[in-house]
Amino acid sequence: MLLLFLSLLSLLSPLTLSLNQEGLYLQSIKHSFSDPDSSLSSWNDRDPTPCNNWRGVKCDAASLSVVSLDLSNTNIAGPFPSLLCHLPNLTFISLFNNSINSTLPLDISTCQSLQHLDLSQNLLTGGLPHTLSSLPNLKYLDLTGNNFSGEIPDTFGRFQNLEVLSLVYNLLDGTVPSFLGNLTTLKMLNLSYNPFFPGRIPPELGNLTNLQILWLSDCNLVGEIPDSLGRLKKLTDLDLALNDLHGPIPSSLTGLTSVFQIELYNNSLSGELPAGMSNLTALRLLDASMNQLTGTIPDELCGLPLQSLNLYENRFEGSLPESIANSPNLYELRIFRNELTGELPRNLGAKSPLKWIDISNNKFSGEIPASLCAMGKLEELLMISNEFSGQIPPGLGECQSLNRIRMGHNRLSGEVPAGFWGLPNVNLLELVGNSFSGQIAKTIAGAANLSVLIVSNNEFSGPIPEEIGWLENLFKFWGHDNKFSGSLPESMFKLDQLGSLDLHNNELTGELPNEIKFWKKLNELNLAQNGFSGQIPDEISSMSVLNYLDLSRNQFSGKIPSGLQNLKLNQLNLSYNRLSGELPPLFAKELYKNSFVGNPGLCGELEGLCDEKDEARNKGYVWLLRTIFVLAGLVFIVGVVWFYMKYRYIKMAKRAIDKSKWTLMSFHKLGFSEYEILDCLDEDNVIGSGGSGKVYKVVLSGGEVVAVKKLWGGATKEFDSGDVEKGGRVQDNAFDAEVDTLGKIRHKNIVKLWCCCTTRDCKLLVYEYMPNGSLGDLLHSSKAGLLDWPTRYRIALDAAEGLSYLHHDCVPAIVHRDVKSNNILLDGDFGARVADFGVAKVVDLTGKGPKSMSVIAGSCGYIAPEYAYTLRVNEKSDIYSFGVVILELVTGRLPVDPEFGEKDLVKWVCTTLDQKGVDHVLDQKLDSCYKEDICKVLNIGLLCTSPLPINRPSMRRVVKLLQEVGTVNPSKTAKKDGKLTPYYYEDASDQGSVA
Ligand SMILES: *[C@@H]1O[C@H](CO)[C@@H](O)[C@H](O)[C@H]1NC(C)=O
Ligand SMILES: *[C@@H]1O[C@H](CO)[C@@H](O)[C@H](O)[C@H]1NC(C)=O
Repeated sequence: MLLLFLSLLSLLSPLTLSLNQEGLYLQSIKHSFSDPDSSLSSWNDRDPTPCNNWRGVKCDAASLSVVSLDLSNTNIAGPFPSLLCHLPNLTFISLFNNSINSTLPLDISTCQSLQHLDLSQNLLTGGLPHTLSSLPNLKYLDLTGNNFSGEIPDTFGRFQNLEVLSLVYNLLDGTVPSFLGNLTTLKMLNLSYNPFFPGRIPPELGNLTNLQILWLSDCNLVGEIPDSLGRLKKLTDLDLALNDLHGPIPSSLTGLTSVFQIELYNNSLSGELPAGMSNLTALRLLDASMNQLTGTIPDELCGLPLQSLNLYENRFEGSLPESIANSPNLYELRIFRNELTGELPRNLGAKSPLKWIDISNNKFSGEIPASLCAMGKLEELLMISNEFSGQIPPGLGECQSLNRIRMGHNRLSGEVPAGFWGLPNVNLLELVGNSFSGQIAKTIAGAANLSVLIVSNNEFSGPIPEEIGWLENLFKFWGHDNKFSGSLPESMFKLDQLGSLDLHNNELTGELPNEIKFWKKLNELNLAQNGFSGQIPDEISSMSVLNYLDLSRNQFSGKIPSGLQNLKLNQLNLSYNRLSGELPPLFAKELYKNSFVGNPGLCGELEGLCDEKDEARNKGYVWLLRTIFVLAGLVFIVGVVWFYMKYRYIKMAKRAIDKSKWTLMSFHKLGFSEYEILDCLDEDNVIGSGGSGKVYKVVLSGGEVVAVKKLWGGATKEFDSGDVEKGGRVQDNAFDAEVDTLGKIRHKNIVKLWCCCTTRDCKLLVYEYMPNGSLGDLLHSSKAGLLDWPTRYRIALDAAEGLSYLHHDCVPAIVHRDVKSNNILLDGDFGARVADFGVAKVVDLTGKGPKSMSVIAGSCGYIAPEYAYTLRVNEKSDIYSFGVVILELVTGRLPVDPEFGEKDLVKWVCTTLDQKGVDHVLDQKLDSCYKEDICKVLNIGLLCTSPLPINRPSMRRVVKLLQEVGTVNPSKTAKKDGKLTPYYYEDASDQGSVA
């Protein structure tokens, strides 16, 4: 039929007269594709054959018949064209990395000449066509990176000539089938990263004696590694990582005489490394990290041409074999978190081009070998928490390649070699918790890349050198608990990147100059327990991000700068100085008392602050008692009057708040009292309300503004039976515990919970007030224009950092459970903070009604698809929801909108990208000069909203990806819309280095 049509066409159109039949087929195929980049423009109908100029087409020279079609990376879209099978001599098809969609048709089996079929990195869906195995000549089948689902069809056990089968990164389920063991022609079998059901490695795979590559990582494999795999004599790569394999590493694996690379990391393997590993004469890379392996690291391993040895996070004991120092190729040695003892081989590194060493968290002792950097390649030297002693070998001071040094928590001593301080590429130098002495050498001037310098808890002495002020990138300098003396060098105040300075417990003297105002980014300043004197400069008030200030136990004198009140301090300690004068009003409160004790001249409103004078001390007792009486009387009278008035007021407001039963939990130093807040909770101050309660804006007497969220705890209100009452109390405890955790969280991108007050009827959560409201409100209102791309980008990054903190830095990790644009709040500068996490769950415990049901699972349009079948929320569901927020930022659209019909924002973005291209997706309000960056962020959003949780990057990774967007120049245009290769690997660096 089609043939007829095409021949008719060739008769009618004079232009196509010359083009041969195969050319006509290809023309028709061209028209079936969507080709946004005009990649097929060379396929014109003026040529007699497609053989000469047509992109991607190759013909047999004699018969001029098409034999090969390579349209990889051309950005074409549309279904797979079965018409290709009308080209009788076509042996090679590659459509790698395009947007081929829909299902792969069954009639692909008519491509009888086909030998090589590469459809990897496309958008194919549905089952794998069972007819593929009837292609008699097929040698190469790569369907990696599509959305194929269902089981591997059993006809796949019948390929005649197949050499390569790659089905990585699909959605295949069922188990890894044993019939694949029939494909004895296979050289490569790659099934990694599919959501298979738990199953064993079929022992039949041992029959694949031609196999060179076997990749089964992340295939949900359980049970033991079958002995039969040892029969794969030609195997070069064995990857069984990221499964749940148990039992020992079978000794048969020492029969893999060709093997180059073995990856077994992240399983539950136990027992010792098998004897006979010296047979693995080709082995370059062994990674058996993150298992439960025991015993020693065998000597015979060291005779191999190893380049990379990763055995971290196991239970290896004994010492590192001497002979490892004879490995001529070894560049990576990561054996952190084991129970290794003894000394390192004396000449480790003398013959090996060592680049990365991580031996942290073991019990190694003795001196650091002088030869570690003998080949001049060493970049990372991580040896935290061991028992190394002696000095740093002088040779390491000439190791210019070093960029990361962590030697904390050992028993090292003596002076640090001068050259070591000034290594030009080092960005992190950590020597904490040793017994180093001497000075920080002036050579530190050469450490141009240093951003973190931690030398605390040593015996360093002498002045801090002027040269430290030359380190433009210095972000963190901790030198506390040493014997540094002299004053801070003037140059230090030029360090405008400095975020954290902790020099407490030294012998430093001198005054703080006005120049401290140049520390614009300083977050934490701790100079306690030194001999600093003079006034605290007024300029301290312009350090707007300072939130930790400890100047206690110095000799500071004069008045407390009133500007201190403007800072948002979590920690303020000026105690035990010689400060005098009036306390600024904000601090004249009982709860600041400890911040100011021990300053004899300081006398404010606050009773009991000043050290009692001699006369007072004599009469102290009497005086104290009298005061207590008078105060108690006053409180009583005021209380009664106040209670009466409030009671009436509240009755009028039809809301009975039982004040006598308030209990308060506070997590920060409060500049206000809970009663002050209660007074301000009237309807005029409501700034929002939601499923769980109302939010009020409260301006306190000190001028401070807070947001108060009032939650209704219905249990005791609606039921009065004793049982329910009891239940309510249990829930209250859970609430308190949870709120307690949340209150302790300190992060710049998380809304601070100041305190929480509770009664039988309701709970108040007092948060810092965020003047620009929620991202959702702003983005979907007429004011969305305020949010230009740089602002939106920063909001995305801020929020990602906040969530990353909850997921990765809190113990236990906190799952937000309700990430959405309405829970991302904006401060005065549009900095973003994450709000309302975890509480959602608690609210559900204590609250009632249908609204709380939606709370537990998140909000409409943000709920990860797996919730439908697992009913569980975890970090991955937060990441999905965060992806939706990114899509909101990029598109300016609501997560659900009647305009999308049945779809939500995620589906709408995907289909619009497919059908109309990226320009129809991006928010028209955004300046198109940012298009490249916006597309990158869009891709991150799509990655986060992958249907399969495993494909979503961790929040830490999301932060990195977002940061990378910010660092690339806006020059090229977006290269690919809506399609990506997933990122799987976390940054491996410092896995063992959490000090
Ligand atoms: C296929 O190629 C063979 C030779 O390689 C040739 O004889 C035959 O004509 C070709 N088929 C077509 C339909 O062109
Ligand atoms: C496949 O892609 C084409 C071109 O982008 C589009 O028109 C079509 O709707 C897509 N089909 C499916 C099933 O997504």
